[in-house]
Amino acid sequence: MSVRIIVGAQWGDEGKGKIVDMLSEQADIVARYQGGANAGHTIVFDGTKYVLHLIPSGILHPGTHCVIGNGVVIDPVALMDEIAMLERMGISIDGRLHISHKAHLIMPYHKMMDAARERQAGSIGTTGRGIGPAYNDKALRSGIRIVDLLDRDVLGEKIRTNLAEKNQILHALYDVEPLDVDAMIEEYVAFDSRIDPYITDTTALLNNALKDGKRVLAEGAQGALLDLDHGTYPFVTSSNPTSGGACTGLGIPPTSISSVMGVVKAYSTRVGNGPFPTELNDATGELLRSEGHEFGATTGRSRRCGWLDVPALKYSIMINGISEIALTKLDVLGVFDEIKICTGYTLDGVPVKNFPADVKTLDRISCEYVTLQGWNCSLDGISTFSGLPAAAQTYVETIERLLETPITWVSTSPAREDTFRR
Ligand code: GDP
Ligand code: IMO
Ligand code: MG
Repeated sequence: MSVRIIVGAQWGDEGKGKIVDMLSEQADIVARYQGGANAGHTIVFDGTKYVLHLIPSGILHPGTHCVIGNGVVIDPVALMDEIAMLERMGISIDGRLHISHKAHLIMPYHKMMDAARERQAGSIGTTGRGIGPAYNDKALRSGIRIVDLLDRDVLGEKIRTNLAEKNQILHALYDVEPLDVDAMIEEYVAFDSRIDPYITDTTALLNNALKDGKRVLAEGAQGALLDLDHGTYPFVTSSNPTSGGACTGLGIPPTSISSVMGVVKAYSTRVGNGPFPTELNDATGELLRSEGHEFGATTGRSRRCGWLDVPALKYSIMINGISEIALTKLDVLGVFDEIKICTGYTLDGVPVKNFPADVKTLDRISCEYVTLQGWNCSLDGISTFSGLPAAAQTYVETIERLLETPITWVSTSPAREDTFRR
């Protein structure tokens, strides 16, 4: 049994798409286990940029099968756009894309409720993709699943029941005009006719593949610190991006997991609201943003930037069971004379041992830093660890020592080929 899980170790956008694409070469199946079109996973290959939101990042390898697992919430509009984008770019998905019949659907009212809630005070800064309201309905047991598309009567009834309630809520709380039930049923019936060939029992597919000795990569979306249970609640997403989510989100047993790789950006970023201990609201933060092109792959929003946060990463390594790290965007730090790493938190002068659970504490903590020398040059064309400038090697080795976890891959550009193994 061999499932390798790839998780984002920070607040998302660590470069998971690039790393999953690279590792897909040695995988038979790549499976997404949670989240939805809130994700934006970028792959740059042969000079072309692909941004994937729902389809796993293994899809660019013609021999690799891709699964959208039961833990994912699927927006038909986003999925159809993505399939069309891949077709336009000459990537065939036929026979390779498998969508779980147990996955939940994002409905138009989920996106409207997400947007309406975001207009209220104290907003999360969501991606507006309807993620929270869809997982809310899943937990409430009123969600509509892919399997419901296969029976027109069931689909019609479920949409009618849901809309009867949602229209009242939308009108009473958010002053939104009622949605037309027949138009919505028609829209989802049309969606079914497009995705019908891809719908299957992915739980059986994955478990049979594992029995046959196939290699499976489980691709996390978002990041550990956005985890619904373990992240900086309530400024989190509504699913479990941490490694434990792969078992429930795919229907595979914990005993099938062979390893967990954490993708770590060489500094920190966060999109949306919520605590961010190492955030730099100054020219240094601006420089990280401009050098790292830190603008969201899904919403285009500016990403907040800061130095690497070791206490947060140690927590992430612990809860995910991360056994190796792929370090991305090392090249971005080439513009700094000095680079800082946060090595510890204090609260009112007292060291903080465990990662705080509440936002108030996280907002109040102070960070302790070590300062390392920068290397002040481009990393273009460097394809070995020993070829890196000495200061860049020291930076990587320092992180490894502080995190007590091996950094097995280093990435130095968006392109697939600019990644080397240590
Ligand atoms: P994901 O959500 O974790 O897949 O990450 P995103 O795709 O949202 O954001 C990562 C961004 O960094 C993308 O634009 C990637 O093309 C880019 N990227 C990935 N690795 C590197 C790297 O090593 N160096 C640079 N400069 N860019 C990278
Ligand atoms: P990838 O997979 C970074 C953030 C949003 C917001 C919070 C909740 O590309 O790393 P949601 O729409 O999920 O209800 O928003 O989570 N967020 C992400 N931030 N990368 C992502 O995905 C994200 N997906 C959601 O900005 O703060
Ligand atoms: Mg992203």
